[in-house]
Amino acid sequence: MDDPKRIVARGYDEAAERHAAWALRTRTAERLAYTRLVLDVIEPGARVLELGCGAGGPTSRMLAERHRLVGVDLSWRSLRIARREIPSAAWVQADMARFGAAPASVDAVVAFYSIIHLPREEHAGLFREIARWLRPGGWFVASFGTRDAPGHVEDGWLGVRMYSSSHAAQTTERLLRQAGFRIQRSRVETEDEDGQPVPFLWIVART
Ligand SMILES: C[S@@+](CC[C@H](N)C(=O)[O-])C[C@H]1O[C@@H](n2cnc3c(N)ncnc32)[C@H](O)[C@@H]1O
Repeated sequence: MDDPKRIVARGYDEAAERHAAWALRTRTAERLAYTRLVLDVIEPGARVLELGCGAGGPTSRMLAERHRLVGVDLSWRSLRIARREIPSAAWVQADMARFGAAPASVDAVVAFYSIIHLPREEHAGLFREIARWLRPGGWFVASFGTRDAPGHVEDGWLGVRMYSSSHAAQTTERLLRQAGFRIQRSRVETEDEDGQPVPFLWIVART
């Protein structure tokens, strides 16, 4: 298999405009509910890191309006749209698993529909890093796959090749606890995606 990160970066570069439009009409209620949850628990002006921010959709816009937002993504074409649409935020092209933030420097980390594209062997290390970046009591709100699914490549997702992997929900919860998180809420939310019910595990956790 090609390097999973290259597949993901190339796929989202090719599909950047298409994905941005698709995201505006997909899982909208769920996206809004979890964005509001973050807005409700942190003070205005907080430092927020969005991992796998994509093209800066409604989540990024709402976070950037009230907070100091840094968005991180592998796809430069998606970031080009984000920079144009939301110039007030900082946008960084990087692999979330290799991103470096200072210890205890961030109030909240969000990752909506993006960790599903990170090889699952890297999840535990990412969780430990996020726990280190967050100040004590900081928030991590993210969606994950629900199934025990080793890395695989799908042809034709939004017209591109795409890599995904996930742990079973219980494994994700265990890895988060081992990284030092206290899980406040863990729910499987299922919404329609192009006529198919697709579940995601949503976790709200604190350091
Ligand atoms: C399904 S999109 C979600 C975009 C946005 N969070 C949203 O809610 O619409 C997944 C995003 O994660 C990014 N991504 C995947 N793996 C990544 C990684 N290792 N580091 C940074 N970004 C990554 C992709 O480039 C893509 O923009």
